[in-house]
Amino acid sequence: MHPVTEFRVVLYKHLIRPLVFRLDAEKAHHLTLGLMGLAVRVPGVFALLCRLWKTPQTAPTTCLGLNFKNGVGVAAGLDKNGAYLRVFEAMGFGFVEVGTVTPRAQAGNPKPRLFRLKASEALLNRMGFNNNGMEALANNLQRYTGSMRIGINMGKNKDTPNEEALNDYLLVFKRLYALGDYFVVNVSSPNTPGLRALQEKEPLSKLLSGLQLANPQRKPLLLKIAPDLSNEQLLDILELAQTCNLAGVVATNTTLSRAHLVEAAEVVEALGAGGISGEPLRARSTEVLEFLHQQSRGTLPLVGVGGISEAHHVREKLQAGAQLVQVYSGLVYQGPTLVRELVKGFS
Ligand code: FNR
Repeated sequence: MHPVTEFRVVLYKHLIRPLVFRLDAEKAHHLTLGLMGLAVRVPGVFALLCRLWKTPQTAPTTCLGLNFKNGVGVAAGLDKNGAYLRVFEAMGFGFVEVGTVTPRAQAGNPKPRLFRLKASEALLNRMGFNNNGMEALANNLQRYTGSMRIGINMGKNKDTPNEEALNDYLLVFKRLYALGDYFVVNVSSPNTPGLRALQEKEPLSKLLSGLQLANPQRKPLLLKIAPDLSNEQLLDILELAQTCNLAGVVATNTTLSRAHLVEAAEVVEALGAGGISGEPLRARSTEVLEFLHQQSRGTLPLVGVGGISEAHHVREKLQAGAQLVQVYSGLVYQGPTLVRELVKGFS
């Protein structure tokens, strides 16, 4: 590693991270992104941060019929309202998947609802689609003029019954249609009661075909899936991908499994319900990717997400069949210089 880069990594891991990790995980999230969000508005600071974190733009990639300046993206949930796009641009990301956004703003689950499992380099969350709603996201996206691609991850409000879910997804899709490069149907969050039932063949088919009827420009429509699906369910999804003209699959969301955690079972149990992300998820999400790639004979574009925190993890996902990758937990543990590192995985 270049000595200057190494200095930045050491600075994050030994100074900034210990300070940030003393705060409650959700407060730390808002504080760090909030401060960086304010900082990039000060003239000169954006350019300064770009120099500090800059990812060389050496890995342009094409996927979903779109050009990306690089294939490393921000996973959904990190910028639910599209409020920090300039910050992620300065870090060097090629794209951001904003959301999950629902038609109406909603508060999400009671706090605390985000926890660090440090020894496992993992997070446990049960946020429950807290977001400011589609109008607020539209306002932020309209103001964005940068060079990253924008994906929009769509969900339904908690109080919308599954039978009326299509209506919520349609509201979001239509309102934000002009503002996104690609769209993702999220039916895989474990934190909205009953949502994952929409991953079953029949309701999913209704949902996806309903959305495609409202897709005049054939914008890429993807599905984000859970890592806890069986092979039969994955095969159903591949069938639907064909019949409903899906542009691709994002694999995967967080897991309900508590396997591969270093922390004692009682410690994890005491934190309560939620999905696990980060290192313990990596192997399973790569396995899902590989299964989809093999079964579709490489015909279905795949976005790999789950446990990426090093360049060789990116290579692993690419070898398993991904064309793009995304990161959330790795950024929390490794800091902004991670993007520069991950882009190397594409070369
Ligand atoms: C998420 N994730 C997520 N996914 C999604 O589709 N919509 C969402 O709103 C959220 N929200 C969210 C919040 C928090 C706190 C976390 C940690 C994660 C899942 C995320 O996009 C990703 O799929 C997983 O976190 C796996 O990637 P990492 O974290 O292992 O890189």
